[in-house]
Amino acid sequence: MALSQDEINHIQSVTSIVDVIGSYVSLEKKGKNYFGLCPFHDDHSPSMSVSEDKKIYTCFVCGNTGNVFQFVQNYENVSFLEAVKIVAEKNGIDVNLDLKTNTKYDKFYDAYDLAIKYYQNNIKTADGKKALEYLHKRGLNDDLIKEFDIGYANKSNDTLSKLLINKGYTEKELIDLGLSNKSNTIYDLFRDRIVFPIHDSKGHPVAFSGRIYEKIDAAKYVNTKETMIFKKGEILFNYHRAINEAKKKKKLILVEGQMDAIRVYAEGIENVCATMGTALTNEHVKLLKKLNVEIVLCFDNDEAGEKATLAAGDLLDKEKVNISVLRLSGEKDPDEYILAHGVDAYQEAINNAVSFFDFKLNYLKKNKDLNKVNDVTKYVNSVIDELNKSGDPVLIDLTVNKLSEEYGIDKNVLLNKVIKVEEVKVITSPKKEKEKKEKNIRLIELLLFYMMNNNKFINAFEKELGSINNDKYQRVCDEILAYNVKFGYINLPDFISYSITTDEYEIISDIIENNINNELNDDEYIGLINKIKQINKEEEISKLKEQIKNTTDINEKLRLTDKLTKIKKDV
Ligand code: CTP
Ligand code: MN
Repeated sequence: MALSQDEINHIQSVTSIVDVIGSYVSLEKKGKNYFGLCPFHDDHSPSMSVSEDKKIYTCFVCGNTGNVFQFVQNYENVSFLEAVKIVAEKNGIDVNLDLKTNTKYDKFYDAYDLAIKYYQNNIKTADGKKALEYLHKRGLNDDLIKEFDIGYANKSNDTLSKLLINKGYTEKELIDLGLSNKSNTIYDLFRDRIVFPIHDSKGHPVAFSGRIYEKIDAAKYVNTKETMIFKKGEILFNYHRAINEAKKKKKLILVEGQMDAIRVYAEGIENVCATMGTALTNEHVKLLKKLNVEIVLCFDNDEAGEKATLAAGDLLDKEKVNISVLRLSGEKDPDEYILAHGVDAYQEAINNAVSFFDFKLNYLKKNKDLNKVNDVTKYVNSVIDELNKSGDPVLIDLTVNKLSEEYGIDKNVLLNKVIKVEEVKVITSPKKEKEKKEKNIRLIELLLFYMMNNNKFINAFEKELGSINNDKYQRVCDEILAYNVKFGYINLPDFISYSITTDEYEIISDIIENNINNELNDDEYIGLINKIKQINKEEEISKLKEQIKNTTDINEKLRLTDKLTKIKKDV
């Protein structure tokens, strides 16, 4: 059964956000609001405020914000509906929501569960003996094999396919799921391989990675193709098992291979997951960022691993994720390192991981002879480029001091170079143009934030503006207007609950995060509408000018010029 928006709003209206959050985090009243340590970053002084009248919490440091449902969602790492259910139960409301039957993919996860059981059974048979011996030889004991649900796809051509067809799956479903394929008849995709189940971030089994276990001429690993439940770029191996420990230790180790993750995990370092050899994607970054913990990049000890570290680090750095880097020496990967040196040595290496910036400095030094003036010059200039990219004054100061000491370069010479580049950036007009655009966007976001709070602002908007000159924000605006039409009122916490199911949720939650501390003020709103009117007009004028310049049809030119004069007169 799904919950209606009205029911969700009702649950929120009878809930004290202070009581709910107070049941997770201790809160203290200061003035109108309550304050506590923010559980979503490593907080040492209370930076999260909770407002009973606004029914919103917000952290001034990490920016995490939302209504009571989002707090529970983020804290407990559950879906929105699960969070609604938890909050309802805290209020003694029985929502009767069978979340288990709620996902349209359940049947597919069930197919994977059955396949896992089948493969697990295989590994205990005579056919699976060699595969099992291989795993034992690699130091995986039976408990571990069970914990990771590792199995064996035997040599049979179609046993799994037939078994699943007997359970009611169609051939097409099995092919779509990446478990089977068909030439004349249906056949199993994984044959004579050790199979490692792969789970999504919620722990549903969605794919397999199949490894050879004898020296044969075949790809070492074969993985399930992309399916509706398996998008390789969105999944990290072992993520669902690592979440809790990562939050506890405020750290997550990211390795390349599933065998690395299994080894590290098996040795008691449970906050580990693996990219499975693919480049880190923006979706991966989202999963990692969500944890709000330090990410330790520990890829393979070869050139590809180094390049992957650089690429992954840059991507995470852009999203302001706290990263450090561990480059192992000697052994090829964390698995082999632990087997050779023991887990204590590995733990020690993790503790000594360097910052991403220091890793980059080392990388830039590679293949350079720093006794040669030429190479030092190249090195120092590339470091300055990195400093300019970061724009972090503390980092600039520390690094300039270090370079100056190490290579005997005058500190002012270095600082001049850093600052020069900064100045150039400021005076170039594209940057000014961009700043102006960003400023306009902030005004539009603030306007929409007002509208989410009270429909008197919607009424004024409809009377004075009617629309927004930006497709992305117009879509958010449409959602706000639709909500108001449907429910006849609007307030922020209820609108947040509603927006979760819309396509614009990400934009909406950014808008809220950026504006949550803004006190609503009627005069400010009128000023805002006037400013946006002006922006719209300026944009229309520049668009018209562009059109006039580009058209060759003289009548069209006259028509547009006429329009332009009229708009300008209205100023
Ligand atoms: N990989 C893959 N297909 C391959 C080779 C590798 O999908 N043909 C992926 C696997 O997920 C693998 C990861 O890339 O775990 C890293 O590859 P590699 O370092 O070669 O493997 P290891 O993790 O060291 O695996 P093993 O120790 O079993 O050799
Ligand atoms: Mn390996």
